[in-house]
Amino acid sequence: MDDLTAVAAIDRLSFPTPARPGLFEHEVDGNNLAHYQVLCADDQVIGYAGYWLIGDEVHISTIAVHPEWRGQGLGELLLLNLLLLAYAHPANIVTLEVRHTNTGAQQLYRKYQFEVVGRRRRYYRDTGEDALIMTAPPLDARYYHYLEQQKELLWPRLSGED
Ligand SMILES: CC(C)(COP(=O)(O)OP(=O)(O)OC[C@H]1O[C@@H](n2cnc3c(N)ncnc32)[C@H](O)[C@@H]1OP(=O)(O)O)[C@@H](O)C(=O)NCCC(=O)NCCS
Repeated sequence: MDDLTAVAAIDRLSFPTPARPGLFEHEVDGNNLAHYQVLCADDQVIGYAGYWLIGDEVHISTIAVHPEWRGQGLGELLLLNLLLLAYAHPANIVTLEVRHTNTGAQQLYRKYQFEVVGRRRRYYRDTGEDALIMTAPPLDARYYHYLEQQKELLWPRLSGED
């Protein structure tokens, strides 16, 4: 709960329409299905991600990195950690919606082998944009192995060793 002011500030910088007031408080305190993580550097929140666990399905509700910290592998760190948490639950399916114009985020999901499986017409009321529905491969041993490999690749980048 102490991080939510910083999370809301990143949210305002990251999305055309920010989360309505009180949404994150409700998610963390009043929604048993919701799971949230924050990413910190120097005691500051610089990113966050959340998902809902419904049965054996993880639905990614949000993911964002502060604009000043983008392009360094941190969005990938948030997504990778989220996928490892999903595997550990255990869940079988990971799905999300993304604006069809948000090619940067789509690229991140594609890097993790997500595929477009559907489209929701005019899903985003603020811009009238369509949403693409993307899903990860089944959370089986093969995909877990892939995630572990990605972790090995990401770590040196984050620690400045590559
Ligand atoms: C999407 C977001 C979380 C990515 O965070 P990030 O820290 O900048 O991303 P990373 O540096 O970890 O990038 C990881 C991979 O994602 C892809 N990617 C990320 N941003 C990209 C961009 N602008 N253009 C193309 N590819 C991009 C690349 O494949 C990249 O891998 P590479 O570094 O090997 O090329 C960030 O841009 C953001 O907060 N955007 C605003 C909020 C948002 O749109 N969230 C998604 C909602 S569905």
